[in-house]
Amino acid sequence: MSTVVTLASGRIRLRAWRDEDREPFAAMNSDPRVMEFFQSGLSRAESDAMVDRIQKHFSEHSFSLWAVEVPGVAPFIGFTGLAVPRFSAHFTPCVEVGWRLAFEHWGRGYATEAARLALGYGFATLALSEVVSYASATNLRSRAVMERLGMRRDPADDFDYPTIPEGHPLRRHVLYRLGADSYSAPVVDE
Ligand SMILES: CC(C)(COP(=O)(O)OP(=O)(O)OC[C@H]1O[C@@H](n2cnc3c(N)ncnc32)[C@H](O)[C@@H]1OP(=O)(O)O)[C@@H](O)C(=O)NCCC(=O)NCCS
Repeated sequence: MSTVVTLASGRIRLRAWRDEDREPFAAMNSDPRVMEFFQSGLSRAESDAMVDRIQKHFSEHSFSLWAVEVPGVAPFIGFTGLAVPRFSAHFTPCVEVGWRLAFEHWGRGYATEAARLALGYGFATLALSEVVSYASATNLRSRAVMERLGMRRDPADDFDYPTIPEGHPLRRHVLYRLGADSYSAPVVDE
């Protein structure tokens, strides 16, 4: 099994998943506030299967969705990281940056700070030329993170998420892009 790199900034640690994360992860995946912009919440088995896929992605790509820890606050608040989408669209293959945090940890800037760590790794270490992010058009909190990161949306990139049925209100998605040339690394305090 490959070793998962840990990334750290002022308040945040992006680290390998631990078995103890599975329970709080399942709890957030069954919270309707966290899952508002997904077709449904996840059962414990579906949540565990997602952790298994995240681990597999780490061994295949050396990056994935890291577990997010806020030392002194909580050992696990959700995930943030980089992933290769499994579906096909006009912008794939690509690497996306994504996030999902437990409701009680929203509104503190943790998602943006964690995403900056992941983007820094993607551009500086993996030498990616571009990272994308996407969300249901109505997921304004997630879009606000993309905008805080300096990502840009071109309405011509909007798309219908392939596994969401026609007519479903979450089907229309917006795509944001960030090129390596327009990414400025934050000052990281290790
Ligand atoms: C999307 C999601 C991660 C955004 O979380 P968030 O906490 O709103 O985002 P940030 O970490 O960037 O925090 C920004 C907020 O923290 C506030 N904040 C407080 N202290 C801060 C600090 N020290 N530094 C920066 N921001 C701070 C900001 O003012 C901002 O507040 P606002 O929402 O009132 O404008 C979260 O809503 C979530 O997990 N949603 C469910 C899952 C989901 O939809 N994922 C995306 C699928 S595409």
